[in-house]
Amino acid sequence: MNQAIKSVMCCMLTAALALPFAACGAPREQESGQEPAVRRTGVIGAMQDEVASLQEAMTDKSVETISGMDFCVGKLDGADVVVVQCGMGKVNAGICAFTLIHHFGVNRVINTGVAGSLDAEIDIGDIVVSTDAVQHDFDVSPIGFARGEIPYTGLYAFPADAAMRAAAADAVHAAAPDVRVFEGRVCSGDQFIATREQKDTILSNFGGLCCEMEGAAIAQACYLNETPFVIIRAISDKADDSEEMSFAEFESAAAARCAAIVRYMLAH
Ligand code: ADE
Repeated sequence: MNQAIKSVMCCMLTAALALPFAACGAPREQESGQEPAVRRTGVIGAMQDEVASLQEAMTDKSVETISGMDFCVGKLDGADVVVVQCGMGKVNAGICAFTLIHHFGVNRVINTGVAGSLDAEIDIGDIVVSTDAVQHDFDVSPIGFARGEIPYTGLYAFPADAAMRAAAADAVHAAAPDVRVFEGRVCSGDQFIATREQKDTILSNFGGLCCEMEGAAIAQACYLNETPFVIIRAISDKADDSEEMSFAEFESAAAARCAAIVRYMLAH
């Protein structure tokens, strides 16, 4: 097929795919607006270790199971919360965030857990707070979109809420004063990153401070539903095949560190 025919076909395909989305209307710009009268926070972790201590500390608890996920509704450190383990990966995470917003009425979302470091400066035990989040494995570039761009949103990186970012960084300083905190991009994909080659591919395409498997899907669901979010991740491994591959060893300590930070945020 010659290049001219190829480009015409690409344009036609793009226009056809655009129609259903255009009919829904583009989402409004997300802003850090005024505080809602009643604040209800959804807290999402992928793994048991990432939510267990939070759920144990909750009071006035009830559990509702939807899509195989146990949504634990109640109070934590005086805050109205729904804490849930979504399971690993972006599909679970997107379903979970949508359910929190539309079924449980949360008006902000915190995603917490562990991540692999993408930056030589950032070590095991350090904390990353998201400025934005991208899906590093999302690629519609053969039909004219930027790598990682979610067609028709005009975006490939979903911005975290400014006030929640600031509160998360403050919480690290207060709840874990010896711990270093970095603010930057979180890269999410349906892969556990464990080779230098995978890590370099993500870095050359998107930059970013850490990689994990849920944050950007939560970010997209929140963006589309005008709900502020932040991702707080503790580094559990170096996301490569170096000697420091340490996920099993550090995962639970890293998750405990995140839980303390989230609790401080909820209490203040
Ligand atoms: N979560 C923690 N470490 C990770 C890694 N290396 N890749 C993807 N998700 C992770």
